[in-house]
Amino acid sequence: MASTGSNDGPASQARTAPFAADADEQRVELHLSDVLAGLSHALDLTEGHPPGHAERSCLLGMRIAERIGLPEDDRAALYYALLLKDAGCSVNAAPIAELYANDDGFVKASRRLQNHRSKRVSAIHTLRHTAPGGGLRTKLGRVRALVASGAAGAAQLTELRCERGAQIALGIGLSADSAHAIRALDEHWDGGGYPYGLAGEAIPMLGRIMCIAQTLEIFWVSGGRTAACEMAQARSGTWFDPALVRVVVEHATDDAFWAGLARPDVRALEPRSGAIIADDSRLDAVADAFGQIVDAKTPYTARHSRGVAQIAALLALELGLGETEAGRLYRAGQLHDLGKLGISNLILDKPGKLDADEWLAMRGHPEAGTAVLSRIPVLADMARLALTHHERLDGSGYPHGLTGDDLGLDDRILAVADVGEALSAERPYRGALPPEKVIEIMSGEAGTKLDTGVFSAFEAVLPQWITLIQAEDRPELLSPVDLPKVDRHGPFEPADRRAA
Ligand SMILES: [Fe+2]
Ligand SMILES: [Fe+2]
Repeated sequence: MASTGSNDGPASQARTAPFAADADEQRVELHLSDVLAGLSHALDLTEGHPPGHAERSCLLGMRIAERIGLPEDDRAALYYALLLKDAGCSVNAAPIAELYANDDGFVKASRRLQNHRSKRVSAIHTLRHTAPGGGLRTKLGRVRALVASGAAGAAQLTELRCERGAQIALGIGLSADSAHAIRALDEHWDGGGYPYGLAGEAIPMLGRIMCIAQTLEIFWVSGGRTAACEMAQARSGTWFDPALVRVVVEHATDDAFWAGLARPDVRALEPRSGAIIADDSRLDAVADAFGQIVDAKTPYTARHSRGVAQIAALLALELGLGETEAGRLYRAGQLHDLGKLGISNLILDKPGKLDADEWLAMRGHPEAGTAVLSRIPVLADMARLALTHHERLDGSGYPHGLTGDDLGLDDRILAVADVGEALSAERPYRGALPPEKVIEIMSGEAGTKLDTGVFSAFEAVLPQWITLIQAEDRPELLSPVDLPKVDRHGPFEPADRRAA
């Protein structure tokens, strides 16, 4: 099955950046919007939103932008920012699960339906949803911890999310305006939002539109157009720019304004000028970004997707598959655990053995990731690899108990890369294992669960991979990009262009 034949190039040529994509493979007119619209469903999973939240928020935000006459360039920046607004969402999942002792996705989703700026509402929500099943004493202990962290704690959690989201947007190649909008997503008109307490026109217009659009979507899902409009009116001048609320209320009975929310056609909303084409290097950047989003979900997988990508590409080269296949497997490594974004950090970070229900949730991540990736035709092969990376040759894997007859070389490579990286990294229930121990454990599975030839290739490339990761002085996947510091008393730079 697995060949150890000659290589197209020495594995030592492996780069820390994504592997080169096939130059002959032109994907004419694949729009970034097609990719981001599909992948936004992974962000919805992390935030506990019903599927399609980001797409519906995009529709509402673009309708508002159109009604206020936002210039075309700004509309393009807004469009991509709306699709990627929750890109930083995974980074505060672990601390939220820890603070609330509850499913982070559930806590985030239930909190969004409350006016959590009210101390009374927030206290009731916290008491109700902190440490479910715990006694009053446990709950009060958690509430005390949350109160002690106070506004500063909330700002810190939001800052983590917004700054990371903005960085990811820049890493994909979105404009600074899009990044600023993502950073200002949770700022409120009266200065009571997070993370920087910006107020009024100091908040970028795109951020103001995104704030009201995402909240309208949440209330539209829970109570329809009436609930959405009532919420907007009630929060006019506090959460939202009153001028934007007026636009929404004026269109309360305008069916065209609300049309298509049940099945949003995001491509149809894309501004004609400023559309971004997703060539191979852009797709690599997107895969890297989503690998980073997955890895940020838990401190125990801080570099898992990237590591799996690196090992898989090295294995492909070692097995003589060539750079094109190495690039494909690198991308698959970055995306293989996308479904983990929907798993509670109470499970992902649990230091002990998972119970039956927790294990069931964990076993669902290959299918959850595949469901998201299947929305994007150009990533169909990634969808398959996300589905099979926990399958084993002897049928003992999951989710479908496939056997060797069903598993191709790329499936087998990704499985070995996944196990190799996971054993080499720290987990909640054990420390990181040294290379000799990793090889010893995996050799016991070679020929039964794991492919023998691929395992032999892994033995060969392991030292190169260790050298590669030791040379990396930072765990982040994206180059650090410095956004201008926020001036709490003035507009963001570049200066916000308020719509006429
Ligand atoms: Fe996995
Ligand atoms: Fe994995």
